[in-house]
Amino acid sequence: MARLLNVTPDAATLAGATAERIATLLRHAIERHGQARLCLTGGETPRETYQTLARPPCATDVPWAQVEFFWGDERHVPPDHPDSNFGMAREALLRPLAIADRQQQRMRAELPSAAAAAAEYDTLLRERAARDRPLFDVMLLGLGADAHIASLFPGSDWLRGPGPGPRGTGSDNARPEVGADAPRPSSLAAAVRKPDDGRWRITLTPAALLDAAAILVITAGAQKADAVFAALRGAADPFRWPAQLLRETEAVEWWMDREAARLLSG
Ligand code: 6PG
Repeated sequence: MARLLNVTPDAATLAGATAERIATLLRHAIERHGQARLCLTGGETPRETYQTLARPPCATDVPWAQVEFFWGDERHVPPDHPDSNFGMAREALLRPLAIADRQQQRMRAELPSAAAAAAEYDTLLRERAARDRPLFDVMLLGLGADAHIASLFPGSDWLRGPGPGPRGTGSDNARPEVGADAPRPSSLAAAVRKPDDGRWRITLTPAALLDAAAILVITAGAQKADAVFAALRGAADPFRWPAQLLRETEAVEWWMDREAARLLSG
């Protein structure tokens, strides 16, 4: 059983340790359910973890044919675009392991409308949601320097608690695109806009991100230390620090290198 907080000396050992943990969790899920649903994160940090999963011993220790792959978020770009989260995972993990297309449930971010891609993914996830187990067996998340997770950025309407609350101040409230629905608590996927550049993204909502048997946050580097501290030790304000949403579940495991953890000691 992993602890809430797991710190490795550096990014290379972080990749090895997280790959080993993910492989163990996948094997357990397959033993229990006959298959495993793994939700991948984007960004750069997990690349080395994915490459380690695609090499022995992980490549041979996990019955990869029983793993179904999902994504926690995607940029509104085609799969061959250099910014595509799917594209990174395909190169680092899926192709090296010869994962069949039918196992890859990617967000169709090439659609002209991000809202349409989100609606399509929402339907897919609803089909997978079952009563007998969480939606995902393993959820992987990165951490932005602003403590965003997936594409839930500070100020997002998706981070508001229940109740009327003022609207219009959220980062993705400007919805020029037809079909970008206002947050509905039951939604599992949504189209949002990244605040700094206004680009559309498709993201899982908090309801979907937290619906997992195990959630691994993988982060590294001194530039993430403030976000780590805010997420784990800061005064509760998930509207400002989205990663604080993870305080709502006991399924979360934080995995980081020493640089990212530097504000936690003491
Ligand atoms: C994305 C990710 C995002 C990422 C963080 C950290 O689409 O970029 O889903 O949430 O995990 O921004 O990114 P790095 O690992 O590149 O620092």
